[in-house]
Amino acid sequence: MTTLETSYLGLKLKNPIIISSSGLTNSAQKNLALEKAGAGAIVLKSLFEEQIMMNSTNLLHHNDYTKASDYIRNYVQAHSLTDYIELVAESKRLCSIPIIASINCYRSGDWATFAHQIEMAGANAIELNIFILNTDKHANSDAVEQEYVNIVKQTRKAVTIPISVKIGQQFTGLIALSEKIIGAGANSIVLFNRFYQPDIDLKTIEFKQGETFSCPSDFSNTLRWTSLISSLIKDANVVSSTGIHDWENGAKAILAGAQAFEICSTLYKNGNGVISEIITCMESWMEQHGYLTVNEFRGKLSYGNISNPTLYERSQFMRYSSDDNSHKGEIYFS
Ligand SMILES: Cc1cc2nc3c(=O)[nH]c(=O)nc-3n(C[C@H](O)[C@H](O)[C@H](O)COP(=O)(O)O)c2cc1C
Repeated sequence: MTTLETSYLGLKLKNPIIISSSGLTNSAQKNLALEKAGAGAIVLKSLFEEQIMMNSTNLLHHNDYTKASDYIRNYVQAHSLTDYIELVAESKRLCSIPIIASINCYRSGDWATFAHQIEMAGANAIELNIFILNTDKHANSDAVEQEYVNIVKQTRKAVTIPISVKIGQQFTGLIALSEKIIGAGANSIVLFNRFYQPDIDLKTIEFKQGETFSCPSDFSNTLRWTSLISSLIKDANVVSSTGIHDWENGAKAILAGAQAFEICSTLYKNGNGVISEIITCMESWMEQHGYLTVNEFRGKLSYGNISNPTLYERSQFMRYSSDDNSHKGEIYFS
């Protein structure tokens, strides 16, 4: 009989559908509803590094953090660390699927020790959502990337539970960085985070927020890097995230080598019912192809397994024949 059961970070998942960290996972009741809708695991709404630092009496007047943006200040005032620990504990109490806590951070520091309290509250794993936006024009890229590694090392010292690291797409040496992140003690890489999108309103000539949600075509880059990193980095679980709105992109993520995949935008847009649709359609596709388990097709089309891996390295369009609807007229060079 067909089963979607899989493992991730040493945890047993009834299927590879993980709910991404967001407002969708900020209450134990919402998490219970997601479990009932069929989710395989849940990543809780992120706790901010600034939240930990500002809530800590010793560090309350830490200058860098008191300069945090109004948005972060307001958020921190409204959400205490105790609330977060309560979210972890209550979600664990109500749900039987794995609960992964999330910390949004951008530099190493004492905040990492707080991760231990998250572990004590019962979290099955921690996902570090790391993003460093460096505006120093003299910055050294190696030093910036080293900070990702330092964050992982510090968190690894604080906890024994598995650690996943969710990163953005803009790195020159993404494979080398992933190798270092795993070497520093992380167990998995989540590809990719989606950031706040800046935009400009041409009517009012003002800054405005861009599109909040991803779209399915965003998945293409996720597919490329899932395939490359799952093949090239030994011992790393890769989780695909960004642009997975339906079962098709979910199945493609696993064919490319993902251990599981995270969904967010599609839940905001289509509601929790999308989870059972993904499950039903993926099971029926597996039956059509004679796959009994997810392991039977995981990585079948990864960089390491296809006969012509350079297909994943191709990046530039060289020629495009617009009158060729089959797209066979496209030729690329890498
Ligand atoms: C409204 C919204 C809130 C989010 N909040 C968080 C967050 O607190 N922590 C985090 O790590 N990612 C957050 N994300 C990013 C998502 O977890 C996810 O990585 C991203 O949206 C890409 O997945 P998708 O294409 O399925 O939406 C948020 C995304 C959205 C749209």
